[in-house]
Amino acid sequence: MPEKIAVVTGANKGFGYAIVKGLCEKFIGAVYLTSRDEIRGKQACKDLEKLGYNPIYHQLDVTDEESVTTFCSFIRSQNKKIDLLVNNAGVLFLKDSKEPKYYQAEQTMLVNFFALVDFTEAILPLVNTNGTILNITSSSGHLSRIPSEDLRKRIGDPNLNLEGLKILMKSYLESVKLNRDGADGWGDSPYVVSKVGVNAYTFMLHRRLADKGIVVNCFHPGYVMTDMTKGVGSVTPDQAAEVALRCALQPRGGLYVWHNGATVTWDGPDPRGFIDGKSV
Ligand SMILES: NC(=O)c1ccc[n+]([C@@H]2O[C@H](COP(=O)([O-])OP(=O)(O)OC[C@H]3O[C@@H](n4cnc5c(N)ncnc54)[C@H](OP(=O)(O)O)[C@@H]3O)[C@@H](O)[C@H]2O)c1
Repeated sequence: MPEKIAVVTGANKGFGYAIVKGLCEKFIGAVYLTSRDEIRGKQACKDLEKLGYNPIYHQLDVTDEESVTTFCSFIRSQNKKIDLLVNNAGVLFLKDSKEPKYYQAEQTMLVNFFALVDFTEAILPLVNTNGTILNITSSSGHLSRIPSEDLRKRIGDPNLNLEGLKILMKSYLESVKLNRDGADGWGDSPYVVSKVGVNAYTFMLHRRLADKGIVVNCFHPGYVMTDMTKGVGSVTPDQAAEVALRCALQPRGGLYVWHNGATVTWDGPDPRGFIDGKSV
């Protein structure tokens, strides 16, 4: 039987690094640690080697078309297919960030939504029948986080296709450019919109790939102590990765799984209260 392959994006640190570590323990096959920065990624592999693990390194900047093409060509040249893809790479501008609002929105949407989608679409022919895609999302990706009922209906419409979703996400950026994001019902967080977009894509892709047996899920890891949160949080990356891997290695798809392992209804009421008793 050919060797199985797992690929994790944005894995030089934080949650992605912990997922690679967990996969090195639990996944029977080759585990690819990818990062946009080669030096940081290779160092992460060295650190894991010191712990007795053997991830394989490959450069991958999900926002860079050439990097995506090179990575896809590399996998193709191996005559292998990917059994597990974890789309983890992501960015967040904290509330006190000094960058202009439109820049924050553009970058957040680019890395978290557009690049995730475009990379996934590019690599899709190299994902094995019965493979799994796990998109790392957030509680911020719950549909209820979009204030406008009309937008919620349009984003949550099961007949929406990928082109339609991209048009909606681009229209959000137009709203920000015109300083109308609040008035247009998007709320004030690019991170929320980007992760809502990722969740919408997850369910759409799961439906699309059902005949190939490819399972697509999204996972909210909780409040994780990483650089993204300036080290603050309620769980370590390793703890969050343990639940993520249970989600990734199970056969059911089309799910929005949270850090406690519970499946949450994406277009239901805001679940934060009854999941944790507090906002996460
Ligand atoms: N931490 C939390 O509490 C929390 C909560 C909910 C969801 N999440 C999600 O979990 C995921 C991981 O976050 P984290 O907490 O581990 O954050 P992190 O420590 O900041 O790590 C983010 C990773 O993404 C990489 N990345 C950014 N842009 C990239 C690009 N264009 N191409 C490839 N990699 C790129 C970063 O690379 P560099 O080192 O080169 O910047 C880094 O490796 C994200 O999707 C995040 O939204 C985190």
